Amino acid sequence: MPAIAVLGCMWGDEAKAKIVDYLGSDADYVVRFQGGSNAGHTIVVKGKKYVFHTVPSGILYPHTKCVIGSGLVIDPFALVAEIMALEAAGITFNHRLFIDERTGIVLPLHKHLDLSSEKQLKSAKIGTTGRGIGPAYADLTARVGIRLIDLAHHRYLKRRIQELYLYHKHQEEASEIAELIRQLEECWKFLRKYSCQTGNLLHEANIQGAKIIFEGAQGSMLDRSWGTYPYVTSSNTIVDAVGIGTGFSARCLDEVLGVFKAYATRVGEGPFPTEISDDIAQKIRKQGNEFGATTGRPRRIGYFDAVLAAHTIKLNTIDKLAITLLDVLSGIEELKICMGYKLKNRVLTEPPSHPLDWEKIEPMYVSLEGWDQNLNKARSVKSLPQNARIYLEAIEDLLEKPIKIVSVGKERNQTFVINKG
Ligand code: IMP
Ligand code: MG
Repeated sequence: MPAIAVLGCMWGDEAKAKIVDYLGSDADYVVRFQGGSNAGHTIVVKGKKYVFHTVPSGILYPHTKCVIGSGLVIDPFALVAEIMALEAAGITFNHRLFIDERTGIVLPLHKHLDLSSEKQLKSAKIGTTGRGIGPAYADLTARVGIRLIDLAHHRYLKRRIQELYLYHKHQEEASEIAELIRQLEECWKFLRKYSCQTGNLLHEANIQGAKIIFEGAQGSMLDRSWGTYPYVTSSNTIVDAVGIGTGFSARCLDEVLGVFKAYATRVGEGPFPTEISDDIAQKIRKQGNEFGATTGRPRRIGYFDAVLAAHTIKLNTIDKLAITLLDVLSGIEELKICMGYKLKNRVLTEPPSHPLDWEKIEPMYVSLEGWDQNLNKARSVKSLPQNARIYLEAIEDLLEKPIKIVSVGKERNQTFVINKG
């Protein structure tokens, strides 16, 4: 049984969770390896909607074990609340959730720093989710951050938190710090049964032949190093983050599946070469319910960008593609795919690295005819209208990778696999 990574290959919200859920029915493990509660992973089963922020989406299958790797930063208060809400909905966690002891902790201070730095940046703001993710990762890099296992050591925790407040020159009453520590220790009482070292767990499972799915959060163009810097998240989101964030090397993966929307979206600020804001964008936002699962912000909409897709396919050594939300494009007369960028008089086949160049590039498009038919009931390529098939073929041809999975609706069963021998 394989180890598979399912990665969002644009700016997140590619409906990765739906693909993980689809592949996950026989998975032994579903593993998160980066990010935190900035993620919003939505799954719809029989009309019931579940949104996950930190818990891996595999938790919906009663036999699947879920791992939160050391590469995440977790907000213990939000995580406890998320687990309790899922428990109230009938989901069981005992012996099924494993959280690495080394996982970073997001403190209320980090949220405060996130929001105040966005305020200070004014028009240059990143448009973060406000969940404290950036400051929490920055503190880990600066070696002043707190990790889950620290919550088990009272005196050590107190010292580290005092030092952290000093580091940030943040004044806080001793009584406030004592109260924070008390609350963190309450969280620890709840979380400690899930805490362990997850690297070995995954290695052992792999040796035993388990099926392991690594569930990416955000997307490759939000990768801290390779995305549209500085308009990125603060973790690495590409395939190499699997090893860093779990202790299970990305070299041990059997398959890397790249998830793309049939069009493109982005939440927050930053470059988006194929962005549109016309009637077509409105229609896509409405049909695709393109509002952030974490913050509710309307998502920005654009055409499929094959230049960026080719770039992220290389970054991630993508083997196969999953194309999601194809149904959303029904009723659009003309569909465009970006196949090159123009920068001054040059044609670029790779994205630029400087934000000023991102502002100047002009996308070069190929036009395709759209289709009117509703796709929600399609369960094979054959049952798609001819123009939808041509659209998918164009993506395969431009990216030189086969499409394995197509999603045509929110429901678990509105998905099909393309078997190519
Ligand atoms: P942060 O991760 O909250 O620091 O936000 C940095 C950027 O990443 C912002 O543009 C966010 O909108 C974006 N972002 C973070 N998480 C997600 C996600 O799960 N989906 C889409 N965009 C995200
Ligand atoms: Mg999302």
